[in-house]
Amino acid sequence: MEPVKVGLLGLGTVGGGTVNVLSRNAEEITRRAGRGIQVCCAATRDPHKVRSCNTEGIWLTTNPHEVVTDPQAEIIVELMGGTDLARTLVLKAIAEGKHVVTANKALIALYGNEIFTAAQKAGVMVAFEAAVGGGIPIIKALREGLAGNHIEWLAGIINGTSNFILTEMRDKGCDFAEALLDAQHRGYAEANPTFDVEGIDAAHKLTILASIAFGIPLQFEQVYTEGIGGMTREDIDYAGQLGYRIKHLGIARRVVGGIELRVHPTLIPYRRLIANVDGVMNAILVKGDAVGPTLYYGPGAGSDPTASAVVADLVDVVRALTSDPENRVPHLAFQPHALAEIPI
Ligand code: NAP
Ligand code: HSE
Repeated sequence: MEPVKVGLLGLGTVGGGTVNVLSRNAEEITRRAGRGIQVCCAATRDPHKVRSCNTEGIWLTTNPHEVVTDPQAEIIVELMGGTDLARTLVLKAIAEGKHVVTANKALIALYGNEIFTAAQKAGVMVAFEAAVGGGIPIIKALREGLAGNHIEWLAGIINGTSNFILTEMRDKGCDFAEALLDAQHRGYAEANPTFDVEGIDAAHKLTILASIAFGIPLQFEQVYTEGIGGMTREDIDYAGQLGYRIKHLGIARRVVGGIELRVHPTLIPYRRLIANVDGVMNAILVKGDAVGPTLYYGPGAGSDPTASAVVADLVDVVRALTSDPENRVPHLAFQPHALAEIPI
């Protein structure tokens, strides 16, 4: 059978990783998906840039609209970042009847309600596992593994860059700017790193997690947001002397009359598991009424780990393409009309 053709919007840290993982593990991926998956075209700003992946056989263009409308591409993978152009392109792909995979948490947190409504009308799938927790399959865990639970709360380290900076400042005595630069060089940070250090990226992710966990619409503006921007080495040292570690957490929990959503630096006793999650690693605790507390841990950013989640979504979409179309959308996208309006 012919491989399913995929159009990539972006060939940077995550896009390059996606091409690499698809090529490196092609045999296993084909077996699991039931068909091969082949990148046929990709949009970049600079087609002459040296890439971390082999672009042989991939048609490169600087016009992302050409990727969306390429008749060969059945699935569009949005890995460009930003929200304005990304929203236009994703809605265009949906209107073209194409399935979409994205790692863009800002896009989903801000425009997810509109995107999922459009996808549902068009009968296409929108998958976004890589948008939260990098390589950790947290979306799948919440949606599938914990489907029988009433979720009471979730809390975790959901920004790899912030955790990396705090760890470097504590363990190596780096200053804030130096640690941030290192995170940027490693491909962990957002194109605009203030999203990481001011807590905005974590707030985007918490918006998505809460929507799935509690069945509420995406409401980014309801998240109390504070980042690690003001943190100094002295803060970290004093916390250590008192037996604490400073971690940037996202927390969503049921309170009387609604759901509380907040992201901020938190003092955690050093013996707690989550206090020992260091570097770029993320960890998310989820408490369900049936299962009790569960913990999901893994690399929260970076090329291959994030590509792992993107490719998992691609495998899901390709598998679903061969299944009953009636069952596709609920499996991978939200059903906005079915969401309860729980006040936050
Ligand atoms: P990146 O390294 O900056 O890559 C962005 C890619 O998009 C580049 O290839 C760039 O082209 C291309 N691009 C941007 N604007 C374009 C335009 N107008 N036309 C054509 N191409 C354009 O970013 P990234 O780190 O891979 O992140 C991509 C997305 O994944 C973001 O939404 C981010 O939040 C999300 N994400 C990232 C990570 C991570 O660890 N980095 C993890 C999870 C999710 P050039 O290469 O030519 O500049
Ligand atoms: N900038 C993000 C982070 C990338 O550091 O967590 C992964 O979403």
